[in-house]
Amino acid sequence: MLDKAILEVDGKKYEFPVLIGTENEVAIDISKLRGVTNGVITIDTGFKNTGSCSSKITFLDGEKGILRHRGYAIEDLTKKANFLEVAFLVIFGELPTKFELKKFEDDIKSYSLVNEEMKGIVEGFPKSAHPMGMLSSLTSALTAFNPRRVDVNCKDDMYNAVVKILGKFPVLATWAHRRNNGLPLNYSDNSLGYIENIMQLMFKIPTEDYKMNPIAVKALDELLILHEDHEQNCSTSTVRIVGSSGAGLFASISAGVSALWGPLHGGANQAVLEMLEKIQNDGGDVDKFIAKAKDKNDPFRLMGFGHRVYKNFDPRARIIKKAADELFADLNLNDPVLSIAKHLEEVALKDEYFAERKLYPNVDFYSGIIYRALGIPVEMFTVMFAIGRLPGWIAQWKEMRKNGEPIGRPRQLYTGEALRPFKSFEER
Ligand code: SDX
Repeated sequence: MLDKAILEVDGKKYEFPVLIGTENEVAIDISKLRGVTNGVITIDTGFKNTGSCSSKITFLDGEKGILRHRGYAIEDLTKKANFLEVAFLVIFGELPTKFELKKFEDDIKSYSLVNEEMKGIVEGFPKSAHPMGMLSSLTSALTAFNPRRVDVNCKDDMYNAVVKILGKFPVLATWAHRRNNGLPLNYSDNSLGYIENIMQLMFKIPTEDYKMNPIAVKALDELLILHEDHEQNCSTSTVRIVGSSGAGLFASISAGVSALWGPLHGGANQAVLEMLEKIQNDGGDVDKFIAKAKDKNDPFRLMGFGHRVYKNFDPRARIIKKAADELFADLNLNDPVLSIAKHLEEVALKDEYFAERKLYPNVDFYSGIIYRALGIPVEMFTVMFAIGRLPGWIAQWKEMRKNGEPIGRPRQLYTGEALRPFKSFEER
């Protein structure tokens, strides 16, 4: 039975316990390593081989292309549940009853009004500000209007913090778009569902009624479900480590928004669309861009391709690709960029460079094409990712706090100068 691992250092053997996960993943617990070896540590830049925690929220298998939330397959959740139902599952651990879901929806709506003074902060940004920078700042500013720390061990206190941020976040997220486009800042419409409300927050203009398109709402609901959680990705790990210092939920989520913004992470959905438009404007020669992506002297990467964990297909990319086809058929749309994306995928997957490195389309490869079809501007794509990922950030922060995990503080290997005498100006 696999219950221990033995490490030999400088001729001495040390035993460490082995932990076995639900799906038989194996982890060596090295939490006592430095103490028993008198200072030896491990190094794993980028944490490609290092687990930061145990978690009950999401399981993914990168080799088999499996993604589950609390044991439910993502394929089932996107087909049979809606965004808030999955958010409830991810955050509280079980699918809600009809009563629980209705109460959850109503409680979120009761917090959907944002303090009017927040508008002053929005007005303070230049129109050139990127919506993700605005969203991170506005989320952090929520702390000023909700200063009391969440007691994660008080069920009601935690529940109220959850419904509060779920109620306010989409308003703040869409205000960035409205501000930058000279449009009035919309309020939530509590007569609508969560996703419908996001659509009206983004697009409703005061001079006309907003015509809701149920096909678009269904596509956005499915797309946001696919973003809800993804175990210890960069932004979620950020939320956990910021929260581990005792920082509040809103401040931790603000940090997660900033981490998601990067083009190697959530910012990739915007970078994918910009890349596809570049290929289109360059005449649609995908081979030229595949060659650039393979050229080590060229910093260009195929955005939306590759993944730290999925070394086979990203199940979300498959679902999104199918959803894009359905949406385009339903809306009778034809976007040449979708054809370019499919052609690019086809050529890349046949290319040895991508096959050898197990580079497949990830969640960001097709999502931007759907956002664009829904009329969402490209600079708002990553904001939509953040709206989708919010339940996961909340769930992971809550789990970390309830587990009483210590402050995250990695060690390092110092490779700088040894001790040396101070130099006066004359000696420098
Ligand atoms: C998300 O972690 C999550 O779960 C993230 C996410 C979530 O839901 O939270 O799934 C969301 O962030 C998806 C990923 C979005 N990012 C992109 O699409 C950006 C493009 N992809 C890459 O930059 C890259 O694939 C990463 C960042 C996603 C993963 O990088 P890794 O795991 O650190 O892999 P690597 O950079 O070490 O690459 C391994 C090899 C290298 O070549 P060699 O040095 O072995 O010759 O693959 C190459 C890389 O150059 N490579 C690529 C490539 N991705 C990796 N080459 C060309 N184009 C690419 N996209």
